[in-house]
Amino acid sequence: MTREFLEACRAAELPPGRMRRVDLKGRRILLANVEGSVFAVDDTCTHEEASLSTGVLKGELVKCPLHNSRFNVRTGEALEEPAEENLRTYPVRVEGGRILVGVPGAEAA
Ligand code: FES
Repeated sequence: MTREFLEACRAAELPPGRMRRVDLKGRRILLANVEGSVFAVDDTCTHEEASLSTGVLKGELVKCPLHNSRFNVRTGEALEEPAEENLRTYPVRVEGGRILVGVPGAEAA
């Protein structure tokens, strides 16, 4: 699968224990910093349309603000109902103080 690594934000904007939503190529992506490791998953809950970036991050688990499903941001796994589908995950690179996310389907220029 073709992937393009796009700049999401500066690493300094995402300290450990924090998360934020970024929009890349029309995708809403959640970035989470778990003890210095950055992970990227879809920001939209797989149950309904809630933005997980407005939920709560505890360790590597994010809790949906709407119906409290929890997902693992490392694996995308849905751990509690009502959500049943896992989140899509994206590869992350941190280079030169920038966080880059590998978005599929974008042809490299
Ligand atoms: S919208 Fe996330 S659990 Fe319902």
